[in-house]
Amino acid sequence: MSQQSNLQREPLLDSLRRELEGLDRDDLLWRIRTLQSPSAPHARVDGKNVLVLCSNNYLGLANHPKLKQAAITATRKYGAGSGSVRVIAGTMDIHLKLEKILAEYRRAEASITFQSGYATNAGTILALVDERDLIISDELNHGSIIDGCRMTKAERRVYKHKDISDLEKQLQNTDRFRRILIITDGVFSMDGDIAPLKDIVDLAMKYQAITYVDDAHGDGVLGENGRGITNHFHLEGKVDVDMGTFSKAFGCVGGYVVGSKDLCTYLQNKVRSYLLSGSQPPGVPGACIAAIQLLKKNPSLVKKLWDNTRYFKKALKELGFDTGQSETPITPVMVGESGKAHKLADEMFRLGVFVLPIVFPMVGKDKARIRTIVTSAHTKKDLDQAADAFQKAGKKLSLI
Ligand SMILES: Cc1ncc(COP(=O)(O)O)c(C=O)c1O
Repeated sequence: MSQQSNLQREPLLDSLRRELEGLDRDDLLWRIRTLQSPSAPHARVDGKNVLVLCSNNYLGLANHPKLKQAAITATRKYGAGSGSVRVIAGTMDIHLKLEKILAEYRRAEASITFQSGYATNAGTILALVDERDLIISDELNHGSIIDGCRMTKAERRVYKHKDISDLEKQLQNTDRFRRILIITDGVFSMDGDIAPLKDIVDLAMKYQAITYVDDAHGDGVLGENGRGITNHFHLEGKVDVDMGTFSKAFGCVGGYVVGSKDLCTYLQNKVRSYLLSGSQPPGVPGACIAAIQLLKKNPSLVKKLWDNTRYFKKALKELGFDTGQSETPITPVMVGESGKAHKLADEMFRLGVFVLPIVFPMVGKDKARIRTIVTSAHTKKDLDQAADAFQKAGKKLSLI
C-alpha cells in the first residue's frame, strides 16, 4: 500500500509569486509595452506617440498596402483559417504557391513552410538527429535552436562564438556518430554579427558534417535583394538546411526551410510541428507571397536599410556608445547591468523613442544592452531624433 508522506509542498501560486518577485528584484521582469497602431517607425505605444527603434520590421513591410491587400484577398478567397494541419486537410494551393515562389527566390530546389520560425527550428532539429548523432552549436545561438537541440537525444557540444578552431576541436573524436549537425545563427540576434559561414561549410565538408543555418535576421537583409546569408557568401546550395522566418524583414509570420527536394519531403513526413499543429491561416501565405514579390522587384528597399544602418551606427559611435561587434542593422548599445538597461530604455521612452532592454537570460548577466534596429522605413530625420535622445539619456545616466 502506498504511504502518504508529511511533506508540505509549496502551493503553486505561492511559488510562482516568489519567483516573480525575485525576477522583479533583479530587474529581469518583462515590462511589455502595447502598440495601439501598426508596426511602423512612428507608432502609438502605451498611449504615447513614439519613434520605434526595436521592431524586426526591417523593410517596413508589416504595414505595407500590398501585403495588407494580399492578406485580405487571400482571406476573402479561402477564409480566416485553414481548417487542419498541413498533412490532413490544411494544405491549400496558396501554401504551395508560397513554397514554390520562395524556393525560386532563394534559388533552391524546394522549400517547406511552418507556422513560425520557432516551430521550424524546434521541429526540424528534432527530425534530423537522434541518439546516434552529434549536434555542434555556436554558444550564442538563438533560444529556438537551443530548445530544438534540447528536445533531441543527440549528444551536444557547444563551440565558442564564431570560433572556427574551437569548432574544429569539437569535431574531433566523432567517428562513432551517424550524423554530425553543425548549427549556427546566420546573423546573431542579440549582437548583430555574422557567422563565418564559408569556413563552417568548409569544415563541415572536411568532417562530413551537415550544416544548418538560421537566417532569421539575414532574410531580406543580406545578399542580393535580401536573398540571405547563403547568397551573401555565394554558398547557395552548399548549406544543407537553410532556415528562415517571415516574421522579421518579410513583415508577416511563419518559418521555413529551403533546400533539396528530398530534404523538404523528409521534413513534411517527420517534423512534429508540421504534422501536429494547424497550418497557417491563408492570409499569411498570401501576404508572404506579396512580400517576396516586392523584394524581387525593389532592390532599393534593402539598399535604404543599409544606408540607414551605416548612418545610425556612425552616430552612436560618435556619441561614444559601445555598440559591440555588430555588422548589420541590429545595433546593441552595451550597458552591462540589467537595471541600467531598463533605466536607459525608460528614459528613451520618456524622450519619445521606443527601444528594448535586452537582459538575462537572453544575454549574459553582465551583458545587458539596448538592442536598436533601424529599418528602411526610417528617415534620416528619425535617426537624428533617435541619436539625439540617446545622447540626452546617455548623459543623464552617465553612460557617455
Ligand atoms: C535567430 C532567430 N531564430 C528564430 C526565431 C524565431 O522566429 P519566429 O519569430 O518566426 O518564431 C527568431 C525570432 O526571435 C530569431 O531571432
